[in-house]
Amino acid sequence: MKSLKIGFIGSGFIAQFMALAMKQVRHLELTALYERRGSDKLARFARDNGLGDCKVYKTIREVCEQSDAVAILSPNHTRVAVMEEIAEAVRSGVELTGVICEKPLGRNIAEARRMVQLAGELQLPTAYFENQLFMSAINKGLEQLKPQMESVGNIVLAQSTEEHSGPHSSWFWDPVRQGGGALSDMGCHSIASCRHMLTPPGKPPAFMEPISVQADTSLLKWGQPEYRKELKERYGVDYSKTPAEDFCTGIITFRNPESGQLAKAQFTNSWMYDKQGLRITMGALGPGYGMEVNTLQSPLEIFIGDAAAEAAADTEKALEKSTSSRGLLTVQPNEADLYGYVGELGNMRDSFLEGKDGYLNWEYGLEITRMCQAAYMAAERGETLDLTDTGIQSELESYKSLISQGKGAEVLFS
Ligand SMILES: NC(=O)c1ccc[n+]([C@@H]2O[C@H](COP(=O)([O-])OP(=O)(O)OC[C@H]3O[C@@H](n4cnc5c(N)ncnc54)[C@H](O)[C@@H]3O)[C@@H](O)[C@H]2O)c1
Repeated sequence: MKSLKIGFIGSGFIAQFMALAMKQVRHLELTALYERRGSDKLARFARDNGLGDCKVYKTIREVCEQSDAVAILSPNHTRVAVMEEIAEAVRSGVELTGVICEKPLGRNIAEARRMVQLAGELQLPTAYFENQLFMSAINKGLEQLKPQMESVGNIVLAQSTEEHSGPHSSWFWDPVRQGGGALSDMGCHSIASCRHMLTPPGKPPAFMEPISVQADTSLLKWGQPEYRKELKERYGVDYSKTPAEDFCTGIITFRNPESGQLAKAQFTNSWMYDKQGLRITMGALGPGYGMEVNTLQSPLEIFIGDAAAEAAADTEKALEKSTSSRGLLTVQPNEADLYGYVGELGNMRDSFLEGKDGYLNWEYGLEITRMCQAAYMAAERGETLDLTDTGIQSELESYKSLISQGKGAEVLFS
């Protein structure tokens, strides 16, 4: 089998996680990195771990020239500019097999639409990286419940959360650069995973039609004076002036276009989950059956008493966004696989080598952006939004949430 050579734009947190996952994916090489913070270290990791003869390049064009496919793993506010440069390289003759973009596809619908448009003009296959749809835990559960879905009826309630104690880079905390707060950052995961659970077996990922959305965005922890001070000192953001939500929750109603059956997706996301570390929970209920996933339940537990606490100085070795280095710790033996990164990389490799889009393409990413933005609009207005209303649909096209415009005080402090 032919190998696929990948170039990364971005060498930060997610790029490092992807490289770790690539150790478990055959026929995928990491050959090129765009020179930025962390790129030399990541290139060394790739070479030392047999991922390929990875080199660092000064321009995006050179990264494209050295790769079959390029992955956009840079901060949200850089998406469109990076894709414009990739597009320019392709227009001037560089050949690419495909282009990948991490979630979210854009900070708003206009940006996500521009991404889709650029890839479409160049006829480039796309992969939208939403790892949770590749989590074995959830897919194994759905497979196990297929006979029940077929005999007594589909899942009608999906619940999904992704929560941790707050992001690791300053741009995430800045609502203008990130596109909002916890909803923009992680609501995209939970909305997508809920829709996935509600999708009947064998149907495409965008099968269920979104009908309406209600949502709440709140600032529960990081708006308090002592935590605002911490954010200012650590990340240079001022949540008394330009806050983002650290908590969001909402319900999206979907309709099965064939049966007319309505189903609910309930999502919750927060940056104020001060337990051991990142927790993803997922649940699905159909008539007479159900399933649950909780990523904080690991087969591995470690205990470190106070006297021995120095032994675990690097807490992120235990779990993404770990908050503690002593006591009873949850430790996940293989997070890259648990969260679905291994599965999404394998799917992208197979799809691009066959000359087609990944299972989730950028049109799908645009649709998830649309639902996140609709949730912001619903929260701002304190209304349930009718997503089938053509007036709402056209308002959403140019909508930018108040929070993403740096006007979060109008929503979060009232
Ligand atoms: N799937 C997931 O669960 C998940 C987890 C974390 C991050 N992400 C997504 O991945 C993306 C990157 O997040 P991260 O956590 O790795 O951020 P990060 O801050 O850790 O790293 C960002 C990287 O991009 C580089 N960079 C900054 N500006 C750039 C520019 N203009 N052009 C090119 N590169 C630039 C930085 O130097 C750094 O190497 C974000 O879109 C984020 O939403 C996804």
